[in-house]
Amino acid sequence: MKKLVAVLLAGAMCFSLAACGSGTADETVTSDAEVAVEETTDETEAAEDETAAADTEEAADTAAAGEVTTATEGVLTMGTNAAFPPYEYYEGDAIVGIDAEVAQAIAEKLGLTLEIVDMDFGSIITAVQTGKVDVGIAGMTVEPDRLENVDFTDSYATGVQVVIVPEGSEIASVDDLEGKLIGVQESTTGWQYCTEDYGDENVIPYPNGATAVQALMDGKVDCVVIDQQPALSFVEANEGLTILDTEYAVEDYAIAVSKDNTGLKDAINTALNELIEDGTVQGILDKYISAE
Ligand code: ARG
Repeated sequence: MKKLVAVLLAGAMCFSLAACGSGTADETVTSDAEVAVEETTDETEAAEDETAAADTEEAADTAAAGEVTTATEGVLTMGTNAAFPPYEYYEGDAIVGIDAEVAQAIAEKLGLTLEIVDMDFGSIITAVQTGKVDVGIAGMTVEPDRLENVDFTDSYATGVQVVIVPEGSEIASVDDLEGKLIGVQESTTGWQYCTEDYGDENVIPYPNGATAVQALMDGKVDCVVIDQQPALSFVEANEGLTILDTEYAVEDYAIAVSKDNTGLKDAINTALNELIEDGTVQGILDKYISAE
């Protein structure tokens, strides 16, 4: 772990670090707003060191400066599972969506370059714990079991678990799920609630929401329990599906941070609350979620 003194509004630093990003893993993509150079040469490393030294001096003069440590200096590495529209999904090679934009806005406030790593949803908590990524931002619900392993920031959105069924299904409300075959995304809260309420034998986990919905289209399950916004996207993209009116659970989405990195959590909370107060977060939500 390298230390970085983050300076709010350090425009010069943003520029120099954007040029020194070091995304090398296949699944690492930069957000659409920033383009990080893939190779870090000795020359750019030297330049980075000089810039870091200059920024440290600058930071000492800045009252708002806080100490933020990230896995890769100058970079905020975000773990996500990009099969969850409109929170995170691919547009060409770029991962876009609500979480990508909220993360980008936070990274800018912290003077960091955002890099997004796509992984299985079930791997995100461990990746945060082990420092493979700095944050997990994936429409992730604050939930007691997860709180034992990671910390969560303040919430930035509300999630609702809903039920997708084929049009004309005999399942008319959540009360009719008993004894039905339920498709879910593995490791999610929907999977957790359904196994608790209806038993393991009635719940089939799929790698992600899209594969669960495909199984529903193929008649392999009777319904899919998933978060409302992805449900709306999937129903829009596939004919013959509908969402039940009754909600299964209401939850808070927040950002997972390592329990060992309270400095980062605090800095994100400060940035996030500014972005909530000035309407930036609502603007991003409105851009992707149309009012009913
Ligand atoms: N909100 C649910 C949970 O936290 C599902 C999140 C799935 N997110 C994703 N990017 N696939 O368990």
